[in-house]
Amino acid sequence: MQGMSRANTRMLASGAKNIADIQAEYAVQAETFEAGWNKRSIGKNGDIMKRVMSHIETLVGEQDQLHVLDVACGTGICTRALAASALTAEVTGLDATEQMLSKARETEAEAEPTLGQTSVTYVQGDGAAMPFPDASFDLVTCRLAIHHFADPLEQVKEMARVCAPGGTVLLVDIVSPTDPATAARHNELEAMRDPSHTECKDTAGLVALLHGAGLNLHTHTVAGGEADGEYDNETVPNVMRFDNGMFVDQWLESTRTPAEAREAIRDQIHAEFAGGAATGMFPFVDDFGELCFTHKWEVVGARKEEEKEEVQQRQAQINETIQKDKDRVVDELVLEEGKKAVLCRCWKSAKFPYCDGAHVAHNKATGDNLGPAIVSAKK
Ligand SMILES: C[S@@+](CC[C@H](N)C(=O)[O-])C[C@H]1O[C@@H](n2cnc3c(N)ncnc32)[C@H](O)[C@@H]1O
Ligand code: FES
Repeated sequence: MQGMSRANTRMLASGAKNIADIQAEYAVQAETFEAGWNKRSIGKNGDIMKRVMSHIETLVGEQDQLHVLDVACGTGICTRALAASALTAEVTGLDATEQMLSKARETEAEAEPTLGQTSVTYVQGDGAAMPFPDASFDLVTCRLAIHHFADPLEQVKEMARVCAPGGTVLLVDIVSPTDPATAARHNELEAMRDPSHTECKDTAGLVALLHGAGLNLHTHTVAGGEADGEYDNETVPNVMRFDNGMFVDQWLESTRTPAEAREAIRDQIHAEFAGGAATGMFPFVDDFGELCFTHKWEVVGARKEEEKEEVQQRQAQINETIQKDKDRVVDELVLEEGKKAVLCRCWKSAKFPYCDGAHVAHNKATGDNLGPAIVSAKK
């Protein structure tokens, strides 16, 4: 957060094993990645990010002025949605591929400046060895990249490291079916199309990554309908799910997949549509007879717990909100002859140092007996 130095690394520190493959693939995809999205996807980027942001809002609740990191930000689709939210004070996008970041900066520069808009910084770096100090961000997001990491636990541990205690790490990705054979077929087809694809996890796999990085799933239950997606709180609480249809041919075009592989992938998806073996692609045809398949999206957030000592220290504080930027809260009052002042002693008044009656709610909630000090100047 404040005062941190953000190195703009060009040479990537040693980290992800597949970083060279990633950079080679996305250097090629950069130009068309974002423009092509709205051609290959039935759900437009704006609609998808609306769902994701509504889930973030329910998870972070009342907080605002958040310092946010978007890991593997690509051309900044998620980064920009975060920056446009009233929740954020500052957003950093990190990606390994300079060409994706150039596109992100270009889009940023072309956008109309909006009053009060959150500042955005793009940094080149490896998600497995990020150039940020510990506990630098309140919210760390990662969209559509877990399935490109060779060993995603490395990146998720890094996300947990740079997340501040009390902050949230949020994974947004497409998932494979839980049946291992279908999941293997699904990942095989995805990798045939894009060689930088490693593995889509299932829900349990995403949760295991967060737990493996020492994070805990958010415990307050998000009711279905509260955010714009589906929740099945019976299995894993607070995982938001939604389906997004993709046009098979446009999807294969966007990665410039060689003709032979294209045909093989298309055949398998079509075979499933015609009643054949499950591929994990959930095929269908649209109203115009075009072959499509379904990406199953999941959004899973987890909290970085505060250390016990930090919680104890915070709980020991009497003053939670008043003039916290000062070392000491000191007020000097001069009362005119015959005047009276009702002074707050509960440290909860919005009109501090004067009592605004906030002690009443506190006493009711806790059984305490706090009250103001009434001082008066002699006549
Ligand atoms: C499918 S794109 C997703 C981009 C963006 N998050 C979005 O949702 O549009 C995957 C991105 O992950 C980046 N990437 C993959 N491995 C990475 C790593 N180890 N460190 C940083 N970025 C990585 C790639 O450069 C690419 O921009
Ligand atoms: S509001 Fe604090 S004592 Fe009344």
